[in-house]
Amino acid sequence: MSNRSNTPPGQEWNASHYAENANFVPKLGGEVLKLLAPQAGQRILDLGCGDGALTERIAQTGANVLGIDASEEMVEAARQRGLNARVIDGHQLPFDHEFDAVFSNAALHWMLDPQKVLAGVKRALKPGGRFVAEFGGHGNVAAICTALIASLQFRGISSHGRHPWYFPTTQEYAHLLQTVGFHVDSIELFPRPTLLPTGMAGWLRTFANPFLHNLDQDLQEAIIDNTMNLLSHSLNDGQGNWTADYVRLRVSAHV
Ligand code: BEZ
Repeated sequence: MSNRSNTPPGQEWNASHYAENANFVPKLGGEVLKLLAPQAGQRILDLGCGDGALTERIAQTGANVLGIDASEEMVEAARQRGLNARVIDGHQLPFDHEFDAVFSNAALHWMLDPQKVLAGVKRALKPGGRFVAEFGGHGNVAAICTALIASLQFRGISSHGRHPWYFPTTQEYAHLLQTVGFHVDSIELFPRPTLLPTGMAGWLRTFANPFLHNLDQDLQEAIIDNTMNLLSHSLNDGQGNWTADYVRLRVSAHV
């Protein structure tokens, strides 16, 4: 969900904005949670736990779960739910063979050195431990990114270095997992068009700040307007409902 040391310039995390604009994220995490199938007594690490909405569901099974996130504000929100949560960068996992499973939902695409993250995940797991994750895969939010880049270019602004996300193919990610020493049990990439509760403006203002970093406010607004105009034909149903062109990569692997 967020990874501060690797958070791209301009991206900030605000727990109440997140709850308002992105409450669909944990709601859509049911399937990957089923794949995790947490059991009472298991020790589980939730990597990029955000405000802890899914961490709480893991805890309700009786598992002993630790949530980590690089955003202090998100960790504080998770603690407000009574969860055990710590501020830790996903690239610097300090754990040594202590978890039965590492879980992650909608967070790994923010972490731009996946090999380092996976090496830390492997080290965190007990022998035979599992890694179960879902995040943005190849083609995720492609139309949104293209419209943002076109809107920047229209204003003469280079988009170089502004695209902040890692969206691998299944081949690329499976290869990386194997390189690090995992056995891949399942890996799939699938489109999941996602209705946005506060529309495209809410999504762009919550997540797309790196594209707008260092631009003055009027210019940011103009680029958001232009982006929405470009996207309205493909991602708005004409009744005011916006859908994001999400593509998920869902994976289960073990050491
Ligand atoms: C995602 O969950 O796919 C996502 C969320 C925010 C920015 C980019 C991707």
